Amino acid sequence: MKILGISCGRKMSNTEILVKEALMGAQERGADVELVRLQDLNLKPCTGCNACVIDLFEKGGAGNCILKNDDFPFIDEKIMECDGLILGSPIYEKTPSGQLKVLNDRMGPSHDIAFRMIAKKIREERGITTGQGPDERSFKPRAASLIAVGGSEWDTLALPMMHLFSLSMQMNVVDKMLVNWVGLPGAVVFKEDALERARQSGRHVADTLKKPMEEAKYIGEPGICPLCHSKLVEIRDVNSNYPAICGICGVKGTLQVSGNKVTFEIAEEEIPHSHVMISGKFAHVDELKQVSLKPNPKIHELPERLKKYQSYLTYSKPER
Ligand SMILES: Cc1cc2nc3c(=O)[nH]c(=O)nc-3n(C[C@H](O)[C@H](O)[C@H](O)COP(=O)(O)O)c2cc1C
Repeated sequence: MKILGISCGRKMSNTEILVKEALMGAQERGADVELVRLQDLNLKPCTGCNACVIDLFEKGGAGNCILKNDDFPFIDEKIMECDGLILGSPIYEKTPSGQLKVLNDRMGPSHDIAFRMIAKKIREERGITTGQGPDERSFKPRAASLIAVGGSEWDTLALPMMHLFSLSMQMNVVDKMLVNWVGLPGAVVFKEDALERARQSGRHVADTLKKPMEEAKYIGEPGICPLCHSKLVEIRDVNSNYPAICGICGVKGTLQVSGNKVTFEIAEEEIPHSHVMISGKFAHVDELKQVSLKPNPKIHELPERLKKYQSYLTYSKPER
């Protein structure tokens, strides 16, 4: 059992210390552990070229990224190899580090488990034996723990955005922890309770991996979304039957506030559409095919319609 720790924080500072505590806990339970410091890596942002998705959907390919000369293949291999993940990030501007978002985009559609299942099927149906298909390790069940660390309580989007990292690869988030009020480098070593909590988190990820994933239990704060334990719910279409939507898994329902008690009741028929469900991921593929990827009947007019924008506000890129 391999458990990978990813720290998005400073070298030997608060996030890394908590991730290392969690890895020590996992090691106590017999896991092989490894740490990657994201700040050591050079990761280029996704350019939106969609080459990975085209490769998966049209050729039953591996969905590899075409960007070259950065450390993405290194971290991709580490993640594919691991069974469990301890993901730690400092909080910057209420969110996790920007570098994690860069990694999330690079591992988004290209690593979406439904996209990769479709590619595998295309390969089988068309009898394609040449080239590379999707990595078989994409389909193994993984458990993850999320650790967010901040210098204050400006933290509302930190754990939700970290949770998004787990979605495309269908990792099961079995714990989330938030540590506030640690700003100075290494200050978390004086918070014994946080260190112990991180260690428990690592033990739990390892223990989870010893059993079938269906038996996995979530040990973090319950939150209000019964599917993903999110505390972030957006009020969207106030005139619809289900005006509230979970900010992480997208399940829809109603929000009731009574005194200081808040409940998010999700609609039974919306559960299969949740983004933590495989069915929700396939539903997303269908929506993409039927709506945003469906060629417009007036596609032949595209070059003419683009002319207006091509000549408007051109600029010179900075020289390197
Ligand atoms: C650019 C920047 C923005 C920050 N924004 C927040 C914030 O919004 N909320 C918060 O709680 N802490 C914030 N912090 C504090 C860090 O999260 C905190 O120092 C944390 O311990 C850093 O983790 P590290 O020691 O592992 O690098 C910010 C720090 C930096 C450098």
